Amino acid sequence: MSGQVKSSVLGAAPEGASDPESAGRAVREMFTSIAPRYDLLNHVLSLNVDRWWWWKTARTFNSILHRPDACVLDLCCGTGDMTFALRRQAGKPATILGADFSHAMLLRASGKSGGRSLRWVEADALRLPFPDQQFDLLTTAFGFRNLADYDRGLREIVRVLRPGGECGILDFGEPRGLMGKLYRVYFKHVLPAVGTVVSGVKGPYAYLPASVERFPSPDEMLLRMRGAGFGEVSWKPYTFGIAGLYRGKK
Ligand SMILES: C[S@@+](CC[C@H](N)C(=O)[O-])C[C@H]1O[C@@H](n2cnc3c(N)ncnc32)[C@H](O)[C@@H]1O
Repeated sequence: MSGQVKSSVLGAAPEGASDPESAGRAVREMFTSIAPRYDLLNHVLSLNVDRWWWWKTARTFNSILHRPDACVLDLCCGTGDMTFALRRQAGKPATILGADFSHAMLLRASGKSGGRSLRWVEADALRLPFPDQQFDLLTTAFGFRNLADYDRGLREIVRVLRPGGECGILDFGEPRGLMGKLYRVYFKHVLPAVGTVVSGVKGPYAYLPASVERFPSPDEMLLRMRGAGFGEVSWKPYTFGIAGLYRGKK
């Protein structure tokens, strides 16, 4: 890919970005440009398996979600589907917030809220506008991979979690074996073509497979999580490793 981020920082590198600041801006503009078609494309391109991944992630944290005083942040919430999955699992008193830096994505989330008690916050995951130790649980679904600096993102997550608080990072992986080969044909060729036609925007659906290729392997990601201050780190593959859930405890 030409024009990638050249600094030693590891993070998303959309085409044309030259440093973490311009990478962040390019990612925000990209998601803003596809916001109107994001949900439709998500469900079509994942054959609706995404709903199961969000549900499974939310269910993993059932015990926290049922604490009466639970305070939960869904980071990079986009149009809110992970946030809604958390709301459905949680007990009524739990406070749940969704945060994203694309105003257009948040508008869609808020429009879909339909009376559910949720709060939406426009915020950059690398500079969260929350005090230290505010949350019992922080989730992020298919958003973390888009951060311009993964280590900084992890440190921000650790900062806003209470001691004993947990984090769940759901993101794409690269399945191995025959399944991996078949999936790569779909992910690198079919998905960008369909995504481009339906969204009417060229860049984002070519960026998606490139960003997954660039993302650290599960072993490296777990090392980075430990380095940021997480204990009890783990990775659980979903659907042959097409996606997977990273967990860590502060
Ligand atoms: C692929 S979407 C995922 C949305 C949603 N979580 C889901 O599962 O459908 C990634 C989201 O991450 C957001 N995002 C990327 N980088 C961000 C950052 N630095 N701060 C806040 N949001 C960010 C984008 O705006 C986008 O809405």
